[in-house]
Amino acid sequence: MTLYPGVALVTGAASGIGRATAVSFAHEGCLRIVICDQNPAGLDETRKLIAATNASADVLVQKVDVIQSSEITEAITSAVAKFGRLDYAINCAGIGNIAKRSTELAEDEFEKIFQINYRGCWLSSRAELKQMLQQEPLSTHDGRPGVRGAVVNIASQLGLVGRPTAPAYCSAKSAVIAMTRCDAIDYSKDNIRVNCICPGLIDTPMTHRDPEKLKAMTASLAIAPMDRWGTAQEVADACLFLCSSKASFIQGAALVVDGGYTIN
Ligand SMILES: NC(=O)c1ccc[n+]([C@@H]2O[C@H](COP(=O)([O-])OP(=O)(O)OC[C@H]3O[C@@H](n4cnc5c(N)ncnc54)[C@H](O)[C@@H]3O)[C@@H](O)[C@H]2O)c1
Repeated sequence: MTLYPGVALVTGAASGIGRATAVSFAHEGCLRIVICDQNPAGLDETRKLIAATNASADVLVQKVDVIQSSEITEAITSAVAKFGRLDYAINCAGIGNIAKRSTELAEDEFEKIFQINYRGCWLSSRAELKQMLQQEPLSTHDGRPGVRGAVVNIASQLGLVGRPTAPAYCSAKSAVIAMTRCDAIDYSKDNIRVNCICPGLIDTPMTHRDPEKLKAMTASLAIAPMDRWGTAQEVADACLFLCSSKASFIQGAALVVDGGYTIN
């Protein structure tokens, strides 16, 4: 018996949190998984990791740029053609901060962060919600009332608090939180749950790619009482919880997974 009898779709699945989430679905017995990203090599690696975790899991690999509405729509059409429906949608695709104050930030840098981290998340969730509206609720493993679908958007602790030199990133992630709340209100009557997660500093390629940024982020780890990097697995765990019937009364939440960063 699995908590995940439905179909999962993860954007940003070629790396970091998205990859850990896709593999976790397979580990927890989800047998129909769609992995989307713009990086085909990373997607192939995720596909192999899923196969090694659960050989019965059927995986659909979709090369998608989340800022291209048509590509997202096509990915969901293909997912439904193959698997029949879409139950758990995790919108994880994103890029890191461009560390500049507003007066140093160029318009195209601001646009890039907003396009991918906010508009791309909206385009993805909009397409997912359109599909969920068309399907019947799915039975749960434990007899609780099922839902038509669950969407989890990946925001950030930096959608809740400010940091030096992060005006575009912080505001794009705040926008994801606000959008999540509005969609949760609008789709409650349709029996769809929409939540988001606000990860803290997580050990992924995004945070470890650039030595200068890594140095600055390592220095800020101690803001959190737990004073350590979180793992992609710890965020994936929260994603899976929010998709499961164990979270059946959680709606519009911004679940903070940050070792206490935002309580200080
Ligand atoms: N790592 C952290 O500390 C941290 C903290 C808070 C929030 N987040 C958020 O978590 C999410 C995942 O980050 P991560 O740390 O796993 O980073 P990552 O760089 O390891 O993975 C991000 C993935 O998103 C994909 N992506 C980027 N732009 C895309 C696009 N236009 N279309 C499709 N795919 C695209 C990349 O190819 C990559 O595979 C992001 O939204 C990020 O903002 C990360």
